[in-house]
Amino acid sequence: MNGKLRRPLIAGNWKMYKTGAEGADFVAALAAQLGSNPGCQVVVAPTFAGLYQAVAAAAGSAVEVAAQDVFWEREGAYTGEVSPGMLTSLGVTSVVIGHSERRQYFGETDENVAKKVRAALDAGLAPIMCVGETEYQRDEGQTEHVLSTQVPSGLSLVDPSEAARLAIAYEPVWAIGTGKTATPAMAQQAISFCRRELAATLGGAAADRVRILYGGSVKPDNVDEIMAQADIDGALVGGASLDLASFVRIVKFERS
Ligand code: PGA
Repeated sequence: MNGKLRRPLIAGNWKMYKTGAEGADFVAALAAQLGSNPGCQVVVAPTFAGLYQAVAAAAGSAVEVAAQDVFWEREGAYTGEVSPGMLTSLGVTSVVIGHSERRQYFGETDENVAKKVRAALDAGLAPIMCVGETEYQRDEGQTEHVLSTQVPSGLSLVDPSEAARLAIAYEPVWAIGTGKTATPAMAQQAISFCRRELAATLGGAAADRVRILYGGSVKPDNVDEIMAQADIDGALVGGASLDLASFVRIVKFERS
């Protein structure tokens, strides 16, 4: 199976931007501009506080709503946390797990990522698991080493039969929010390495079904070249997903 047989996925990660009302307005306008068949799966990830309004605004449209994180327990004394079932009960369909900002600022570990991926799948949420090296790690030549740790550990509790529900976002940390994009060739190289790691972890047939996204300063003017790479099945977009015109252009990337 080549990359173009997997359905492309464009996901907007809003991070800690947009109130519930702002997010709802954005989703309504996005849905109106995309119509019923945007040609790829389109997801936006508001903060927890904006999920309810975003889901309501997306109802009946092609836009889906993701959360930016999730806890692995079903319920309990875990102040500040949100369970997978709480997300699905709102109408949320997918969840970003292990974003580098969570790893960097909030102590997210590969072990926790694995538990979150497992709990999301159990609840019927599609995980978008983030991996990627820091600038220091790239400079030290450790990119493949980092990916060969993060990919198998994050997926250690996943069964190969679940591959089609899984997406991985390769986001080199040095390219996030910095305006420095990995060249399409660098992104392709790292992502094809991730697919080889996937094959080693889940088997070749399952690895072919997992969508792998690129993330890190994706913009209207570089999305076409990024999406043209053989192994790149989509994009996880931060800054450029906050502006309607720019996100619409990214969703409407040029199909090669
Ligand atoms: P960016 O963020 O597009 O602003 O670089 C990407 C991300 O953090 O997912």
